[in-house]
Amino acid sequence: MSDLNALETRLSEEIANARDEAALEAVRVGALGKKGAISELLKTLGSMSPDERKAQGPLINGLRDRVANALAARKSEIETAALDNRLASERIDITLPAQDVPRGTVHPVSQVQAEITAIMASLGFSVAEGPDIESDDYNFTRLNIPAEHPARQMHDTFYMKPQADGSRPLLRTHTSPVQVRTMLANKPPIRIIAPGRTYRCDSDATHSPMFHQVEGLVIDESTHLGHLKWVLEELCSAFFEVPHVAMRLRPSYFPFTEPSVEVDIQCDRSGGKIKFGEGKDWLEIAGAGMVHPRVLEMCGIDPARYQGFAFGMGLDRLAMLKYSIPDLRPFFESDFRWLKHYGFAAFDIPSMEGGLSR
Ligand code: PHE
Repeated sequence: MSDLNALETRLSEEIANARDEAALEAVRVGALGKKGAISELLKTLGSMSPDERKAQGPLINGLRDRVANALAARKSEIETAALDNRLASERIDITLPAQDVPRGTVHPVSQVQAEITAIMASLGFSVAEGPDIESDDYNFTRLNIPAEHPARQMHDTFYMKPQADGSRPLLRTHTSPVQVRTMLANKPPIRIIAPGRTYRCDSDATHSPMFHQVEGLVIDESTHLGHLKWVLEELCSAFFEVPHVAMRLRPSYFPFTEPSVEVDIQCDRSGGKIKFGEGKDWLEIAGAGMVHPRVLEMCGIDPARYQGFAFGMGLDRLAMLKYSIPDLRPFFESDFRWLKHYGFAAFDIPSMEGGLSR
């Protein structure tokens, strides 16, 4: 009896003192393994008299159960401690400044898109999106460019194979179909921008078959051209980071706006460099106008009650102008040296409060 007590005391101490799983396993083998102390005791039951067995059986079995339980409890303690240690040693303080400066850079087009989004968000615009593969209906027809309209030729469209129903999906030639999508899905007041990829079959130093535009659309009851001019002035002075830019609207033609204008901003080209916010020269920056009543109608908006303006600008060109990038072609060549030279640090997220660029 006292032998059993002494054994239990010894085993309990060994279990408590086991520091790791290997040490604990050694204790288990010593107690419950084939030749373990408790296993040996269990073997003696067979040679006992029935009375003795009746007395000893429960004692030895009880001891075995308690030791097995203690082993299991200690095992889970050791496992928890090991996990805690690992978590502590692998802890990363994400608030510390980065030590490895990231190798990748933010592409100028992404940067400019983020800058424009930040500016327009501060003016109360939200961002709308549409797919690159568009229907003829949204890219042209509902923008008042019916089949056979000469304006379709101006767009050098990439068409896909005709579908079973005869329609031909295309790569959107401008971001204006997002106007259609937005008006079909929302009731005025509408105030959105839609930056994104656009495609035309055209390629030289200033044209790439894939390029980027940002569309703007405002629809309300009394929106007028003066609002358009103010919004674009705010956008341009914030974007070029100058206190003020003079702006000029020239009459133009787009099938989906009436009247249509081309928007020029004041600049200075003397000295081989282009500067904004001063000078006597003008630079075309956007196509714009009042949304044509027929477009409103085809997009489910009552032209007797609502009117608004739209504009479209080339993001790639804005990036070239702001960051003095002379050639458009390398924009899409993924040359690491070019990206390193013209790219932006990944942590410099443009905001109106934090500054657009540095
Ligand atoms: N979608 C026109 C283009 O790509 C630009 C534009 C947008 C003009 C909105 C007027 C209004 O040339």
